[in-house]
Amino acid sequence: KRVVVLISGRGSNMRALIEAARDPAYPAEIVGVISNRASAAGLEFAARAGIATRVITKSDYPDSTAQDAALERALAEFGAELICLAGYMRLLTESFVSRWSGRMINIHPSLLPLFKGLHPHQQALDAGVRLHGCSVHFVTFAMDSGPIIAQAALPVLTGDDEDRLSARTLAAEHKLYPHALRLLAEGKVRMVGDRAVFRVAET
Ligand code: GRF
Repeated sequence: KRVVVLISGRGSNMRALIEAARDPAYPAEIVGVISNRASAAGLEFAARAGIATRVITKSDYPDSTAQDAALERALAEFGAELICLAGYMRLLTESFVSRWSGRMINIHPSLLPLFKGLHPHQQALDAGVRLHGCSVHFVTFAMDSGPIIAQAALPVLTGDDEDRLSARTLAAEHKLYPHALRLLAEGKVRMVGDRAVFRVAET
């Protein structure tokens, strides 16, 4: 499957996907990376890895609809079949989201449905939970709310602050995202209505 990754910044999850996809046996190929910020550090890594990159930024378009139309054109040029959001810090329009329904996934660093939105690690620390983690889910219009494909959990340790907890969670994200994309690319999970439906392994 041809996959385009959307980023806004560091791009460490993008990098994990690119590295996983280097294995010829991996069922997805990262064919392009698009950022809404020209300064995103991830763009440099992608370019060095020989992957085509684009910057589609708000200031070049009159509104979100026009920006998403440009995104759609770039995706068509890449021949994208699936989209991975990886730290893409912008809300997509409802019509874009519905066009890619079931074919677009996101990673969020919390055990959803807990702690959606910004600062999920601090939200977890403030709530006093002893388990935290990350989730990959299908993208629906409501932020961080689509059907869950895969999750990884990790303990909150005494002395954790936002930085320490986010660093340990990020390491788990880098394993989880390639795993979740594999499930989707192999057709082992699909979105049906508001549920993720898994294909039962044949025995
Ligand atoms: C990650 O924690 C991701 O889960 C969240 O934003 C962060 C992006 O980091 N959505 P990176 O750009 O992948 O390094």
